[in-house]
Amino acid sequence: MKGVKISGIGSSKAGYVLTNEELSTIVDTSDEWITTRTGIKNRYISNGQTTTELASKAAALALKNANIEASALDMIIVATITPDLFMPSTACMVQSALGAIKSTAFDISAACSGFIYGSKIAINSIRCGDVKKVLVIGAEVLSKTINWQDRNTCVLFGDGAGAVIYEATDNNKILNMYTQSDGKNGCSLTLNSTPLKNCLIEEKLVTPYMQMDGREVYKFATNIVPICIEKVLQNTEVKLSDIKHFILHQANERILDAVAKKMKIDKSLFFKNLDKYGNTSAASIPIALYEAKANFNTGDKIVLVGFGGGLTWGSLLLEW
Ligand code: ACO
Repeated sequence: MKGVKISGIGSSKAGYVLTNEELSTIVDTSDEWITTRTGIKNRYISNGQTTTELASKAAALALKNANIEASALDMIIVATITPDLFMPSTACMVQSALGAIKSTAFDISAACSGFIYGSKIAINSIRCGDVKKVLVIGAEVLSKTINWQDRNTCVLFGDGAGAVIYEATDNNKILNMYTQSDGKNGCSLTLNSTPLKNCLIEEKLVTPYMQMDGREVYKFATNIVPICIEKVLQNTEVKLSDIKHFILHQANERILDAVAKKMKIDKSLFFKNLDKYGNTSAASIPIALYEAKANFNTGDKIVLVGFGGGLTWGSLLLEW
């Protein structure tokens, strides 16, 4: 089996910084409520950038960081729940923007776990010898799915993209992976698609907006993240105390702090940038990786954890 390593990381921000103060002029909320309940202060939202544009910009930076040409990529996977179009896929449009002529390109949908799921596909594809260089992008323009009159959701989300290049190597750096889903309980976090209508069926009106049962999501997240961390360490020689950095999906500061407390982990080991970005779904882990990597040292053990709509969850154990 081939080894796999991360060889490049990039990220990109949407064009407009929406502060809690400005949000308070749009809906009945306050900086104090948002900060104490979520830890979020600002979020970047699109003032014209598409999911493809954000994804392509993050990808170009990751390619530069890896020092490889787009034409060397064998596969492009975009994790998103906010594609610009159903067809072509965002990945195909990114392929075109980059000039990645020999890639196989496709999108996956696993909400906030999308980057972990996409990484698993990429890593397994390299391990089996099918491909050598794979670009995995998490990219979202969630702001177009938000009801800006609904204070329960509109304060939480932001737009952006992050990208990671996985490459075949003799010196394996991906130590373990774990993913799972629970479709039975998916109704706590939903985003409708085109409603069913045709020559036989009259259209029923459905809300086009993201809907969330915040308390259920909170319970799910604080329960599943410790399981993700334990599972990814199982059958490895790595212990919890060996982990130098926990890069969790940036949903809510209270979720991160609750997990740290439950697992008796020093909360300073949990990277946080949700104060600047809000929750960017599939983009949040690669954006966090891009920002956290300045503090990584060679040999550091790192755990990545995604959790979200579906329900979906997963984790990755890697060595820097
Ligand atoms: N500003 C002011 N007041 C608000 C706001 C707001 N933005 N939103 C809700 N409230 C009010 C509610 O109307 C309610 O008022 P009421 O008591 O008069 O009815 C009160 O605040 C309490 O509302 P709750 O929903 O009970 O607030 P809670 O303390 O549970 O916090 C939150 C809500 C932050 C969403 C919490 O449930 C949570 O952290 N859930 C996790 C959700 C999450 O992280 N989702 C991200 C997407 S999913 C993912 O990425 C995995």
